[in-house]
Amino acid sequence: MRSTVRSWALGILAVAAFAGAGLEARAQDAAAPTGDPARGARLAYTCLGCHGIANYKNAAPVYNVPRLRGQHADYLVIALQAYRNGERSHGTMHANASSLSDKDMADVAAYLSGAPLKPAGAPVGAPPPAAQVCVACHGNDGVGITPQYPTLSGQYESYIVRALTDYKKGGRKNPVMAGFAAQLTDADIKALAAYYSQQRPALDIVQKPAQTAAR
Ligand code: HEC
Ligand code: HEC
Repeated sequence: MRSTVRSWALGILAVAAFAGAGLEARAQDAAAPTGDPARGARLAYTCLGCHGIANYKNAAPVYNVPRLRGQHADYLVIALQAYRNGERSHGTMHANASSLSDKDMADVAAYLSGAPLKPAGAPVGAPPPAAQVCVACHGNDGVGITPQYPTLSGQYESYIVRALTDYKKGGRKNPVMAGFAAQLTDADIKALAAYYSQQRPALDIVQKPAQTAAR
């Protein structure tokens, strides 16, 4: 049953160039990830050296390492698979993802994501004209409308610019996003990144266990 629901969700992902598909897909929130966050916490310890430090930067090009807390766990698994199989060309993340099995990825994603962000209702500020097409999948407020679509709310502006530029230039080969990014000017990308980075509630860094330990 679960796998039927899941493949249906992935089918929607494949044809999601239809703006309308997103609305039906909201029902897919039920297809919750089954990762084990306790095991994931142990596996993700080294990840926090970058994803657990506020404003940590990737060098050359310089941009902020993405915030993962509040992201959809299913999407994190998809992203990790893309680094592992080379669909995304980032060297360090390829190395990190290559050592993870599918089960490891599900567990790590369950831990890193925590409770996924929920739509707040009213977006902050007015969306730039270029966002008209994006909202069908990423929402007005940046909360991805299915567990497979990334949430952008409160993500680092410099990272959103980097991701969109990578889809446009081919460093990321996801066909859906490559198509949308190809139509964006640099000015569009800047405006979109500014808009989505200021949405609330916001993604956050993953606090290191020592900082969050229950006392
Ligand atoms: C040396 C710093 C560093 C370490 C260590 C690291 N990451 Fe990353 N991670 C990055 C950077 C930089 C990116 C963005 C890469 C890009 O431009 O695509 C990233 C991207 C990601 C993404 C994609 C996020 C998104 O919004 O698409 C995930 C998921 C992720 N990392 C998980 C992990 C996990 C799990 C580990 C540990 C096994 C890990 N990372 C270790 C720096 C790091
Ligand atoms: C049909 C649905 C859809 C539409 C429309 C869409 N996206 Fe996406 N977006 C996705 C999916 C799916 C991914 C994950 C792709 C991957 O695996 O790399 C994504 C990834 C992204 C990412 C990378 C997030 C991260 O954490 O790395 C950004 C940024 C983004 N989209 C912005 C936009 C913007 C801006 C627009 C409008 C110009 C847009 N998207 C339109 C589905 C969509």
